[in-house]
Amino acid sequence: MNESRPESMASFWMPFTNNRDFKQHPRLLVSAEGMYYKDVDGRSILDGTAGLWCVPCGHAQPKIVAAVREMVGQLDFAPTFQMGHPAAFDLAEKLMEYTNHRYGHVFYTNSGSEAVDTALKIALAYHKARGEASRTRLIGRERGYHGVGFGGISVGGIAGNRKPYGVMLPGVDHLPHTHNLEKNAYTRGEPEHGANLADELERIVALHDASTIAAVIVEPVAGSTGVLIPPKGYLKRLRELCTKHGILLIFDEVITGFGRLTTPFAGDYFDVEPDMMTTAKGLTNGTIPMGAVFSKKHIHDAFMDAPAGIELFHGYTYSGHPVACAASLATLEVFKEQNILEHAAGMAEYWADAVHSLKGLPHVIDIRTIGLIAGIELAPIPGKPGVRAFTAFKKAFEDGVLIRTTGDIIALSPPLVLEKKHIDELFGKLREVLKNLE
Ligand SMILES: Cc1ncc(COP(=O)(O)O)c(C=O)c1O
Repeated sequence: MNESRPESMASFWMPFTNNRDFKQHPRLLVSAEGMYYKDVDGRSILDGTAGLWCVPCGHAQPKIVAAVREMVGQLDFAPTFQMGHPAAFDLAEKLMEYTNHRYGHVFYTNSGSEAVDTALKIALAYHKARGEASRTRLIGRERGYHGVGFGGISVGGIAGNRKPYGVMLPGVDHLPHTHNLEKNAYTRGEPEHGANLADELERIVALHDASTIAAVIVEPVAGSTGVLIPPKGYLKRLRELCTKHGILLIFDEVITGFGRLTTPFAGDYFDVEPDMMTTAKGLTNGTIPMGAVFSKKHIHDAFMDAPAGIELFHGYTYSGHPVACAASLATLEVFKEQNILEHAAGMAEYWADAVHSLKGLPHVIDIRTIGLIAGIELAPIPGKPGVRAFTAFKKAFEDGVLIRTTGDIIALSPPLVLEKKHIDELFGKLREVLKNLE
């Protein structure tokens, strides 16, 4: 294992990174176990973000590591186009079980972005298969993040991810975001105000006509934009309106799936069932890239009436990759054997208390928590958006904790296996960082 600094950092064009700054001041991780990373200088870094929201069971989880090792030696690759291997089918059954059989089918991808584009394509093709080919519009939401494919950025609403890339998909509209600091600052769980924002779908329907709209896609809890928790009743209202107008509702559960809210999916937490869910990240505990679209049975079945032949012209070389399937099967076992959801639920109140104890520190203008997620919003330095939070991120890393920032918001999403002592360490260090922040 290479634990030394790379000879050169010139050639790797890093994603979503200030490359020039990073290469001047690199932060290099070389190993990970449980709740901690180790950096190239041998320092322990407490993981407050589960990597990128993707390691619910903790790092180097022995059962998952063993399953990956075994499968890569047994079946390194097998196609799933007109072919199959047992683990892909076994995993699909187990995933359906994990949803209590509320979904009928799963389509594998390799990432959240691909899951999103897959779900959007299935929505369009589904309506066509049913004879409603006019339903081609896709509705996203301001500040939404749905990955970086052209479908995902088209329905997404983070301006910086869209602006450089031209016109994107046509026929897309956006619901308003739900962030309202004047009315909802410092909430635990769902904020009180804003359910009426779901009614904006009626305005969009009135503008374009329901017969032109295929699907609405939202993150149940928006993560990448800086933790926006849905107002009480908002998602239920969205569900009602989609049903009323024959529009499919897609929940992008890439970060909320697999326990982030202490339930299997966010839909379970909010008691709202979408027609499709997009997932990735925690699906394999982040160990091997994989995504999956969960679909209700009736959506899949609409394709099965077609004349004999391939029903859906879509798929990826690595859809259902054997090693990813092995990682995911082991992840589901770990969730069950270690009662990960129950453990996370047991930590949620202590977590929320710790986060909200930061209220009153310099520049903190909002704190919001749900499940094992926290958003801490800082006032921006005038004329320099994002700089204050990014300074906190760098300082926190120096002090041995990994946090994540987006704009001037600190977003926290630790592995679900954390204990009270980790919460104490995380917020003890973060408190000092925030106290001394310019
Ligand atoms: C809600 C949501 N959708 C999609 C994605 C994209 O996933 P990936 O980076 O695996 O393509 C992300 C990634 O953070 C996400 O948070």
